[in-house]
Amino acid sequence: MEYNLIVACDPKGVIGKDGKIPWHFPEDLKFFKDTTANSVVVMGRNTWESIPYTRRPLADRLNLVVSATMAGDDKHGVVNYYFPDYTPMVVLPSMDRLSDVVENQKLYDKVFFIGGASIYKWALENVKLDNIYVTQMDKEYEGDTFIPMSIFEHFPIQGKVGDFEIKPNSLEFFDGYARFCFTRKKGPSPCSI
Ligand SMILES: NC(=O)c1ccc[n+]([C@@H]2O[C@H](COP(=O)([O-])OP(=O)(O)OC[C@H]3O[C@@H](n4cnc5c(N)ncnc54)[C@H](OP(=O)(O)O)[C@@H]3O)[C@@H](O)[C@H]2O)c1
Repeated sequence: MEYNLIVACDPKGVIGKDGKIPWHFPEDLKFFKDTTANSVVVMGRNTWESIPYTRRPLADRLNLVVSATMAGDDKHGVVNYYFPDYTPMVVLPSMDRLSDVVENQKLYDKVFFIGGASIYKWALENVKLDNIYVTQMDKEYEGDTFIPMSIFEHFPIQGKVGDFEIKPNSLEFFDGYARFCFTRKKGPSPCSI
């Protein structure tokens, strides 16, 4: 299973304001859609609620929503299917069930942590991520929700973040933002003995 994180943020790590994303770039939304298609997507309750009712669950993906509130008394997870195409959406009461659900489904071989802040924080601390897809805005935005900035410590000058390096040819510039991907370094780290 490949584990990935995908985020759009401003230079200081802002990802949201008042429950929404503070910018609108249709081309980047298309990139998000194409990149996460045919994968498991993991999101927090606030992010689920931020998706317009008519657009959720996200099509062509297994939607996992982490929420103790939505799971209620069900400690094993609640499965819902949405018409007309039976898009599956599973509510997990906690992250404890995540690996079970992900590893036992046979449809998809990629997982994307798609936000918000609490999900990013958990994934960065608990998962050996293979790739981190970043869309970084050119300017600062007002916000109240942030991704931990430690992942950007060394970017872009040294082009590396701990065990990650910039994926070759992944850096692209657009009007208002740039996009790149950190990928886990292959082979032993230069510091290992
Ligand atoms: N720029 C981007 O790329 C991007 C991407 C996604 C979201 N966003 C933005 O981020 C904001 C939402 O982020 P957020 O941090 O406020 O909310 P969030 O992470 O989407 O959701 C938080 C909720 O998820 C549940 N949760 C999270 N971790 C859990 C765990 N380990 N166990 C059980 N439940 C857990 C809890 O729900 P319960 O309280 O129900 O238990 C928690 O209150 C919005 O503004 C959204 O637009 C931006």
